[in-house]
Amino acid sequence: MERTNDEILETEKGFITYRYIENAKSVYIIDLYVKPEFRNSHEASQMADAVCKEAKERGFTKLLGSVVPSNKGSTSSLKVLLAYGMRLQSSTNDFIFFEKEI
Ligand SMILES: CC(C)(COP(=O)(O)OP(=O)(O)OC[C@H]1O[C@@H](n2cnc3c(N)ncnc32)[C@H](O)[C@@H]1OP(=O)(O)O)[C@@H](O)C(=O)NCCC(=O)NCCS
Repeated sequence: MERTNDEILETEKGFITYRYIENAKSVYIIDLYVKPEFRNSHEASQMADAVCKEAKERGFTKLLGSVVPSNKGSTSSLKVLLAYGMRLQSSTNDFIFFEKEI
């Protein structure tokens, strides 16, 4: 937060970092992490829900996410974004964008 002005929500189980993009009325999920012992209990979904709730209250209308195919675990990341109801928005070389109305 000190270095970039991005936002973070942390629990004892994991964290989610995100950024508000004012001119696009969007909130972008930068990173998401759940400790291995707490996975598959919808912890990630709950953190994303909390970000969406806060964004909606601030008048933001869209959630953005991305996957870098060459990153480790990118296929799982893709599955998680799709499971959360995100849709394909666009892609460039080695970068795929997803979005969801909130
Ligand atoms: C990816 C990660 C954040 C998921 O956390 P989690 O708390 O286990 O996720 P949830 O339980 O909230 O799962 C959300 C949905 O994604 C699906 N999902 C989660 N991990 C998955 C995986 N590895 N492969 C396929 N689907 C997966 C779940 O089945 C669930 O779908 P559902 O709502 O239809 O049941 C966690 O595994 C992690 O921290 N991984 C390492 C870091 C990482 O890859 N981060 C990038 C994420 S975009």
